[in-house]
Amino acid sequence: MNPLFAVVITLAATSLAVKVDSLDLLILGDWGNQANYPNMLNVASAMDIWAATYNSTAVLALGDNFYKGGNYSYDGVQSVDDPKFTTLWKDVFNGTTLKTLPWWIILGNHDWYLTNSQTYELEYEHINWKATDFFYTKRILVDLDSQTYASFIFIETDLLFYGYNSTKNDLGVNFALQGWTANTYLQQLAWIDNALAEANNDPYVFVVGHHPTFTCGSDVTSSLDMIALDNLVNKWVPTAYLNGHHHTLAYYYVNNGSTLQIQSGAGGTVPDTVCAPYENATGQELSNINGFTHLHVTADLAKFEFVTEFNVLVFNASLPPRTPVVGVFANTTYLPAPGDPSIHWTNPLLANATSSTTSSSATTSTTASGTTTAASSTTVATTATSGTTISTYSTSAAETETATLILSTTNTVSAYVAPSAVAKSTQPVNLYSGSARLASIYGCLFFLFTILV
Ligand SMILES: *[C@@H]1O[C@H](CO)[C@@H](O)[C@H](O)[C@H]1NC(C)=O
Ligand SMILES: *[C@@H]1O[C@H](CO)[C@@H](O)[C@H](O)[C@H]1NC(C)=O
Ligand SMILES: *[C@@H]1O[C@H](CO)[C@@H](O)[C@H](O)[C@H]1NC(C)=O
Ligand SMILES: *[C@@H]1O[C@H](CO)[C@@H](O)[C@H](O)[C@H]1NC(C)=O
Ligand SMILES: *[C@@H]1O[C@H](CO)[C@@H](O)[C@H](O)[C@H]1NC(C)=O
Ligand SMILES: *[C@@H]1O[C@H](CO)[C@@H](O)[C@H](O)[C@H]1NC(C)=O
Ligand SMILES: *[C@@H]1O[C@H](CO)[C@@H](O)[C@H](O)[C@H]1NC(C)=O
Ligand SMILES: *[C@@H]1O[C@H](CO)[C@@H](O)[C@H](O)[C@H]1NC(C)=O
Ligand SMILES: *[C@@H]1O[C@H](CO)[C@@H](O)[C@H](O)[C@H]1NC(C)=O
Repeated sequence: MNPLFAVVITLAATSLAVKVDSLDLLILGDWGNQANYPNMLNVASAMDIWAATYNSTAVLALGDNFYKGGNYSYDGVQSVDDPKFTTLWKDVFNGTTLKTLPWWIILGNHDWYLTNSQTYELEYEHINWKATDFFYTKRILVDLDSQTYASFIFIETDLLFYGYNSTKNDLGVNFALQGWTANTYLQQLAWIDNALAEANNDPYVFVVGHHPTFTCGSDVTSSLDMIALDNLVNKWVPTAYLNGHHHTLAYYYVNNGSTLQIQSGAGGTVPDTVCAPYENATGQELSNINGFTHLHVTADLAKFEFVTEFNVLVFNASLPPRTPVVGVFANTTYLPAPGDPSIHWTNPLLANATSSTTSSSATTSTTASGTTTAASSTTVATTATSGTTISTYSTSAAETETATLILSTTNTVSAYVAPSAVAKSTQPVNLYSGSARLASIYGCLFFLFTILV
């Protein structure tokens, strides 16, 4: 059959079956760490609530999928049958709705920190585990009536960030095993440039990488290749660049306010301190608490909402559809050929095999233990009853901020009002510099939630 004709039939069938008017994603980074198992469970249960509410399309996993920690003494995975796939993924993100969603996955540095771990993560077979390649794109229908599409460009930032000669753990070993050379980064940058050019006519373009091109200035400015990546992002003005790596939730409007930088790296491992951006920009950053990011795209708006592990929406950021950039072109001098292993995954262990012998999904079912009990402080618990408003907490001896957490009658947090002085800022804001105290508030709320519901 004429391929064009086939496409038309498929679209017609789709429009009869389901009305497409939005795209909905849950964005999670830096998540698989048994040492933070209770936080992962919290994040997963909050994600399930959002997935059910919004009929989410997929989960976007921003890398650092598997850490060492808890009973695991190694980063990444040791084989396609590694129990981490079960204990840190299937048995955690298993809510009724969440477990039905595909995961669009990229890798982070921890996924490369063990010989051939990157291979096993791409080789692992599960219907929802979509770690298909190092570099790949997706073009998704957002709205059928207006024919609005969103392009996603998934990139592998590890070589760009660390360089070919990295001696960190097994990084350099794995780059070599993958067939990458000292010049591979030129091909990778050319591929990104070209992919952005191909996506340029779409009203929404999202570049998805593990390492930041904006937050934590020194991360970017200390790597020439990350500066080159940053320049590509600014050249093509995508709707947003999404990254993990730093364990916070953040957004910044950069590039003269025209590109959103989204950081969602608080999926499981311990959140860290805020990063200083190297460019002035409007934005917010939340540290010291785990969480994920919700992205809802319609024909009119792409909206990001940042949600804590206790299902509290802390802030949001949005951009309207973009218009195509004019007068710029991709430099394809080093564009790799289709199938080039510098871009596309080829399993070095199977490269010469005549038939594939990949194993089926992991069957091991080691039950990871973990506890979801609350933080120990009871300071606020006595006032945390149904319908109560909790307001003041001290962030340090020197300063007092006020945040308001309003409990519904079922003891879930029904509203959160950020400290007004820091609700919007041109500098990164750590709302939770007094994290211990706030954590105790959240802990108590969660404890009540746990025992009363
Ligand atoms: C989710 O899907 C259900 C069933 O298709 C539908 O009834 C509901 O309106 C949808 N919810 C949203 C928020 O789109
Ligand atoms: C590690 O394994 C031991 C023995 O099976 C278990 O008691 C413990 O809870 C595990 N630790 C974690 C963090 O899962
Ligand atoms: C998810 O898996 C855990 C085991 O890790 C189990 O205790 C829990 O009941 C499961 N939840 C659902 C909704 O299947
Ligand atoms: C880095 O790797 C390249 C390519 O293998 C090699 O030519 C160069 O000598 C290495 N540099 C260092 C400092 O190891
Ligand atoms: C930045 O944006 C403002 C307002 O949109 C515009 O007036 C200004 O020319 C832009 N600056 C640059 C350098 O693009
Ligand atoms: C950031 O803003 C401050 C204050 O407006 C200004 O002094 C500084 O030069 C700006 N830095 C950059 C990199 O634009
Ligand atoms: C979303 O962000 C805007 C701008 O910062 C703010 O006015 C609004 O209250 C936020 N909404 C929610 C639900 O957080
Ligand atoms: C494309 O990139 C190559 C290699 O970096 C460079 O030599 C060349 O000048 C570039 N071409 C354009 C048109 O920018
Ligand atoms: C695959 O074949 C190439 C060329 O013969 C060889 O250099 C390479 O070592 C082989 N790889 C494996 C894993 O056997």
